[in-house]
Amino acid sequence: MIEIQEILFDEQTIARKVKELADGISGDYTGKDLLLVSILKGAVVFTADLMRRLSIPVTVDFICASSYSMSTESSRKINIRKDLDTDIYGKHVLLVDTIIDTGETLNFLMKMLSERKPASLKAVTLLDKKSRRMVDVQIAYLGFEIPDKFVVGYGLDCAQKYRNLPYIAAVRMMPDT
Ligand code: IMP
Ligand code: MG
Repeated sequence: MIEIQEILFDEQTIARKVKELADGISGDYTGKDLLLVSILKGAVVFTADLMRRLSIPVTVDFICASSYSMSTESSRKINIRKDLDTDIYGKHVLLVDTIIDTGETLNFLMKMLSERKPASLKAVTLLDKKSRRMVDVQIAYLGFEIPDKFVVGYGLDCAQKYRNLPYIAAVRMMPDT
């Protein structure tokens, strides 16, 4: 069980930030064909809002990565559950995720996709838990920096629930009764 502890970003605040990020991206990619690569499942809501705020033509594709810990190693292993449908060779690619935590997921995906020789490869995330970063990964477009708290909503889950909340909230784990 979890309990909503505090709403960190309400719908309006998120919408304003998404528009701001979209304006920056539209400006930077003017005259270029942009491919958004949305990371399932957490980035679905952010991607849907962001793409509708872009004023440039875009295409969108989805990739699904999951991570798991190996007890013998300090870092986690990333596994691709669903790869892209699109060949990204020579394309301008923007990876879209809702949150960056340790950075391992984005770092893995950036390295994997860069081997396919896109024309450019950048990342956008709405939230950044900067204090938790384990690997150095460049985020070209960043929404909000947040403290080390577990958050749900706006696509982000706790055991697959709460993705549908329109706001982003910090949660508290409750002991089962
Ligand atoms: P990283 O590889 O540690 O940067 O983790 C990134 C992924 O972990 C995100 O795409 C989320 O799916 C998940 N994640 C990290 N922090 C949170 C959180 O506070 N709430 C929900 N999911 C999270
Ligand atoms: Mg999750």
